[in-house]
Amino acid sequence: RRSYSVTLIPGDGIGPEVVSVARDVLFLVGSHEGIEFRFQEVPMGGTALDAVGVPLPEETLSTAKDSDAVLLGAIGGYKWDSNEKSLKPETGLLQLRAGLGVFANLRPASVFPQLVDSSTLKREVAEGVDIMVVRELTGGIYFGKPRGFGTNESGEEIGFNTEVYSASEVDRIARIAFETARKRGGKLCSVDKANVLEASILWRRRVTMMASEFPDVELSHMYVDNASMQLVRNPKQFDTIVTNNIFGDILSDEASMITGSIGMLPSASLGYSGPGLFEPIHGSAPDIAGQDKANPLATVLSAAMLLRYGLGEEIAAKRIENAVLETLDRGYRTGDIFSTGSTLVGCKRMGEEVLKSVNSQKPVA
Ligand code: NAD
Ligand code: IPM
Ligand code: MN
Repeated sequence: RRSYSVTLIPGDGIGPEVVSVARDVLFLVGSHEGIEFRFQEVPMGGTALDAVGVPLPEETLSTAKDSDAVLLGAIGGYKWDSNEKSLKPETGLLQLRAGLGVFANLRPASVFPQLVDSSTLKREVAEGVDIMVVRELTGGIYFGKPRGFGTNESGEEIGFNTEVYSASEVDRIARIAFETARKRGGKLCSVDKANVLEASILWRRRVTMMASEFPDVELSHMYVDNASMQLVRNPKQFDTIVTNNIFGDILSDEASMITGSIGMLPSASLGYSGPGLFEPIHGSAPDIAGQDKANPLATVLSAAMLLRYGLGEEIAAKRIENAVLETLDRGYRTGDIFSTGSTLVGCKRMGEEVLKSVNSQKPVA
């Protein structure tokens, strides 16, 4: 019997609602597959600020580091929006990613056949889209120094940040992206702003240098402004995308909408060693929090990524993904993916339907 410790960080807003569903799904799949999960729930973000005054308590980071994998809901909310930088929920999330050393963020955007009509794009544009965004997660403008507030020569108040990448930071994310592309459609598009930014010029040079090690991968480069246009013009031209921290943040939200909803997109954040961090790409959705309206599937699919990339439990991961597909086949939809003819359900009910799908599954071959 395999046994794993999983740190649960429900967080703020809809975070607790969606993590509760994903936890139940993990537990049930585990019971079918002979896997035992030891869950430990810890605070982060606004919840932690209210409880202990910091967005990432030391105990939360140490619990996460000592576990086999970390599942996170989302953090943030109006209440803490005007806090100073070090006391923002978002700062806690960045500290967690840095603390775990998870520099590679995999954000798959696949259009499920059941949801083609939930996409805002035309059927023929959205159908069959299957993109993997590989986002650099612990560098770039999110972490670059110098940063801060000050005054300029005319005495005017300024805020400033620095986009900085070292060669080794680019190399390690590029390698993961090439390896990812090799296992997928064999095409890698590196997205940058090398026509303007030095950090992007270095990025493009290092990615290009690595291409000789991957002759089976077709490498292309695209400026980020064009990429954001091409994503809605003809998303099927993309297979694997590699990009920096901030461009990856923006482009993955854009890519999510091709699939029908941001409520569908999971992610895996991985480093060289230690536990991975698994979270939906969406935020705490304060506009629908506490109303049982959130789509839990992004977090359920993040739990599948946790099994696959975090624990090497491929069969259990497939079981979760198949259960999600089957639940969509049976017509259940939360509001964000609703279309006429389907059955509108809340977050909890969607979770219950996924559990039913797990229970009725034939064993995965
Ligand atoms: P958001 O992703 O929380 O919400 C954007 C829109 O998408 C909202 O209308 C929301 O209702 C909808 N939405 C998001 N997830 C959904 C789901 N699962 N089901 C149905 N609808 C969903 O982005 P925002 O409004 O810009 O940010 C809200 C807060 O979340 C901010 O404090 C932000 O900093 C934080 N945030 C956190 C994370 C994270 O924890 N990883 C990610 C993004 C934003
Ligand atoms: C995400 C979020 C975070 C990011 C914020 C909340 C710090 O938008 O996970 O996509 O920008 O990385
Ligand atoms: Mn984001």
